[in-house]
Amino acid sequence: MLNLDLSNVSPFLPGGWRLGEEKGLEKAHDHVLNGTGAGSDFLGWVRLPAGYDKEEFSRLQRAAEKIRSDSQALVVIGIGGSYLGARAVIETLTSNNYNLTRKDTPAIYFAGNGLSADAMGEVIELVKDVDFSVNVISKSGTTTEPAVAFRIFKALLEERYGKEGARGRIYATTDARRGALKGLADKEGYEEFVVPDNVGGRYSVLTAVGLLPIAVAGIDIQSLMDGAREEMERLARPGMDNPAWQYAAARHALYKAGKKVEILAGYEPSFRFFGEWWKQLFGESEGKEGKGLLPASVEFTADLHSMGQYIQQGERVMLETVVRFDKGRGSITIPDDPENVDGLNFLSGKTLDFVAEQAMRGTILAHVDGGVPNILLTVPGRDERSLGALIYFFEFACGISGYLLGVNPFDQPGVEAYKNNMYALLGKPGYEEQKAALEKRLES
Ligand code: PA5
Repeated sequence: MLNLDLSNVSPFLPGGWRLGEEKGLEKAHDHVLNGTGAGSDFLGWVRLPAGYDKEEFSRLQRAAEKIRSDSQALVVIGIGGSYLGARAVIETLTSNNYNLTRKDTPAIYFAGNGLSADAMGEVIELVKDVDFSVNVISKSGTTTEPAVAFRIFKALLEERYGKEGARGRIYATTDARRGALKGLADKEGYEEFVVPDNVGGRYSVLTAVGLLPIAVAGIDIQSLMDGAREEMERLARPGMDNPAWQYAAARHALYKAGKKVEILAGYEPSFRFFGEWWKQLFGESEGKEGKGLLPASVEFTADLHSMGQYIQQGERVMLETVVRFDKGRGSITIPDDPENVDGLNFLSGKTLDFVAEQAMRGTILAHVDGGVPNILLTVPGRDERSLGALIYFFEFACGISGYLLGVNPFDQPGVEAYKNNMYALLGKPGYEEQKAALEKRLES
């Protein structure tokens, strides 16, 4: 079970302020659970771990098996919520070097999450001499980055396997009814998986959006869902002993007390992309109307030698949330060296895990002494069940936290601004006036 330690939060709250005292938690809980607040059309993720489509779930397990049997590589095309969750889970549960350490599963390359020709060229080169499949993921079906990438990889597949052969290697995850990708998938006869209408991108990792690539990587998606379901049952109960309430209340109280940044810190390199997923979850959910904690992430101990300086002594604007995995996977013991030239014999016979644990404990105290409140979240292990629980925990807490802040946690109106400018500058029909206005500004 996840465990939350808030003992290093209270000292940073103004005198007399007790966590959970602020009004709104009960209401926020009701909004999330019963759809009584803004954005209630996007609460499909709340009961998803129990109510997911079991037929589709089995079908995607079969698709993953097929991909594993006929492909040495899978190209996963998607951006934002259609990308980060799968990568976060795959790397956290396997390795940030998944493509090097995997044994019997295909390499997984992510494409369409940017517009870099160099990055795209690299993936094209990587699949040049191997059998590969494509999972294109886009709820809207119109997002430029994945749409452009899909055009390119679809053409590559058709060139290599012919139209019919390519058809059997393309898996489209998209809206059940609408959108350009849906239309194309229907027309071409691709195997399709659904992004449910009522689940937004950043909440979609436990739908086919995340589950198909995750299953291809050999991860037990049933246990992932089971872990999420257990957490769902636990968090459905209102009250201050609900850890999602505690987390949301703590970050809200600290925000009110002047903190502007929340840093998510992990001690496992494989956890890095979980931080990217978490940043999108909280950043897109709360960063609106001029409000919200800025989510940032660091990888310790590596970043203690870079960002550590700022965290210890820079502007006192941040709080830190540390995610600690209780049980490591392997054990490495530090050898004795009779000459002890490096002076490290005081560590002889100690495990690396022990050293890391002391580094973490020492860092928390140092940062707290430096004025950084700390939330410590202990996760039982780097396993499917625990990660399913962690994902659900952050999703649920994010919903509560957004409502406490007074925003709609399920929209992202700000994302359109760059898209409109980009479309205009690219000459998309219908954007002529905007194009002229933008070009004038750029020339001046
Ligand atoms: O969370 C979100 O809504 C976004 O990150 C989207 O997932 C992202 O923009 C991709 O959108 P789509 O899946 O429609 O291509």
